[in-house]
Amino acid sequence: MIQVETVAALRRRRRQWREAGESVALVPTMGNLHAGHLRLVERARELADRVVVSIFVNPMQFGANEDIDAYPRTLDQDREKLEALDTDLLFAPPVEEVYQREPAQETRVQVPGLSERLCGIFRPGHFTGVATVVCKLFNMVQPEVAVFGRKDYQQLLVIRRLVEDLCLPVKIEGVDTVREADGLALSSRNGYLSREERSRAPAIYATLRHLAEEIRGGAGDYRGLERAGLARLAGAGLRPDYLEICRAADLEPAQAGERRLVILAAAWLGRARLIDNLLLTLE
Ligand code: PAJ
Repeated sequence: MIQVETVAALRRRRRQWREAGESVALVPTMGNLHAGHLRLVERARELADRVVVSIFVNPMQFGANEDIDAYPRTLDQDREKLEALDTDLLFAPPVEEVYQREPAQETRVQVPGLSERLCGIFRPGHFTGVATVVCKLFNMVQPEVAVFGRKDYQQLLVIRRLVEDLCLPVKIEGVDTVREADGLALSSRNGYLSREERSRAPAIYATLRHLAEEIRGGAGDYRGLERAGLARLAGAGLRPDYLEICRAADLEPAQAGERRLVILAAAWLGRARLIDNLLLTLE
């Protein structure tokens, strides 16, 4: 595996691969890699001749009061995991390689509507930061395909929308959420949990599954179910930001009769903000 820090070095390698007729799959990450990230790398391996993984903790997607300084950085361990999966290139640029200007002067990519719901309400500017860095990474790496997790379902839709609206020549591939045995979705932020908090954390996915069962059983008062779900999370000792039953296509509040749904939740446990979702299709 080659590791490069600069766009110039990345471009040289990309040019060689293009001349050899080889396709490229990109997996963007912020590092501290776990089995969820690695599943994306495995999928990328199936989709293209060359696999590029980026590790970049993107300042633009963190709010002023968020955890960017505490965000776990484990580059040496990450590199070993990527080598074991036959990754071709690790792109790990310093901040100056990605952002050349004062934050307020940076060109940015805004995806209205989709970015302003759910996590966007609690993390203003977050999805603009994600859309901007992903657009930059696409332009730097120029992949044929890029792989993202359904764990961050709203992020996945924002990226699909930006690719469509800006006519970017990249195919977006979604991969199912990888979970612990007790249902907790793998996340770098799980490391912030104390042992006691960790024992409560499965309540998020358990609540989503419970609501999905109710809906499959015919329950159609989605706003009432959302209230019940929020109460269930609070009862388990979590502090929910939201729990919503939405249309899977565009994250608008689901109405009775819609068939493709997604139930999404975000909740705090100690200093960790955990998110999860469950997709369901009704007959
Ligand atoms: P990060 O949180 O490091 O996640 C990188 C990718 O791994 C995302 O596509 C995310 O959805 C996926 N992922 C995380 N946990 C997963 C799990 N348990 N199962 C499956 N996939 C999982 O998401 C980001 O970084 C950033 O916002 C980024 C897209 C890199 C832009 O900075």
